[in-house]
Amino acid sequence: MNFSHRMDFIAPSATLEVSAKAAELRSQGHDIISLSLGEPDFPVPEHVVNAVVEAAQTGRAPYTPVPGLPAVKDAVTLYFKRVYNVALPRECVIISNGGKQVLFNLLMALLNPGDEVLFPRPYWLSYPDMVHLAGGTPVPVRPETPNSKITVSDLERAYTPKSKILILNSPGNPTGTCYSQEELEILAKWAMERNIFVISDEMYDQLCYLPSGLSSLSRLLPQFSEQLFIVNGLAKSFAMPGWRVGYGIGAPELIAKMSTIQGQSTSNICSLAQAAALAALTGPYDTVEQMRNVYMQRRDLAMNYISLWPNVSCPMPDGAFYIFLNISKLFSEQIPNDIAMCTHLMTKAGVALVPGTPFGDSRCLRLSYSTDEETLNLALEKLSPYLGG
Ligand SMILES: Cc1ncc(COP(=O)(O)O)c(C=O)c1O
Repeated sequence: MNFSHRMDFIAPSATLEVSAKAAELRSQGHDIISLSLGEPDFPVPEHVVNAVVEAAQTGRAPYTPVPGLPAVKDAVTLYFKRVYNVALPRECVIISNGGKQVLFNLLMALLNPGDEVLFPRPYWLSYPDMVHLAGGTPVPVRPETPNSKITVSDLERAYTPKSKILILNSPGNPTGTCYSQEELEILAKWAMERNIFVISDEMYDQLCYLPSGLSSLSRLLPQFSEQLFIVNGLAKSFAMPGWRVGYGIGAPELIAKMSTIQGQSTSNICSLAQAAALAALTGPYDTVEQMRNVYMQRRDLAMNYISLWPNVSCPMPDGAFYIFLNISKLFSEQIPNDIAMCTHLMTKAGVALVPGTPFGDSRCLRLSYSTDEETLNLALEKLSPYLGG
């Protein structure tokens, strides 16, 4: 078939491929523990479930405004007031099908062919493909320091007159790297001084374990609304990945353009999902804090094991639920790369991890600790003979 050129640049998600391989092995009778998925293992808070049931029981399902119901947009602004003490008008908000669609709409609205988009490497695997789809050129920036955080001097090296956007992602997928408020602001201000638009992907903002607390560039929004955009959603912080609620906040003029794109593609997100978002964002946030504490304990559990593996290293993950393991010292003739190591671990240890290649680092594997402690312990025990040598 004669496919469009844009198909040359994009690939199916590697995380989904690993889950499919794990499912295939399971169907053949193998016992596979998956540490590959990027989604919370916690239940949706009960009051949120109840709100969806109530909304369904009205028996009405009209279209809503494309960028979301006013009450849901207000609930997003309430979140920023409660968590970051930032007051935002409703016109700054768009509700989309997950953080993914927010990013997609945004890049479609901003990029022209040849525009360069900077982001730290390793990166969330959708950034390069989304940038390509929107006609831009991805420019991954590898940090010079070994702690996986980029600095202004890394950005200086990557900068060209075509640099149009900088994407920051903290806490980060796949490394769990978390930038402090000060570090984020230094990077954002460097970009804005050069007329580079800043996208802050804060999908995991609630899952930050730094003692200094949560960080968010939303704190700069009132001052720099023309040059800054925040992407977030309810997938991670509120354990609702499948209900596809993402939101973006930025300049009303930009929100209107994104809304036009959304209006010609998917229109409003499911109205029941909007009922869920309303209940989650306006209700108590205690489950969010409980989840954060549990994730932190799991991170410590996993890091205790990993510190005993002399040939494996990783930056200290201060957020999200990922650890990005550098396993290159274990490569051999039989296992020459990350993909071979993944297959080896899945078939021999019975544990599924994700190869680092799609995240921009073929020396690594991504481990997700979004699973209960007992399973995590067992998986790490099973991995030890293979990664601990
Ligand atoms: C860094 C990052 N940004 C954005 C997203 C998109 O989230 P959503 O599931 O809301 O589309 C993800 C999802 O895994 C992510 O890891």
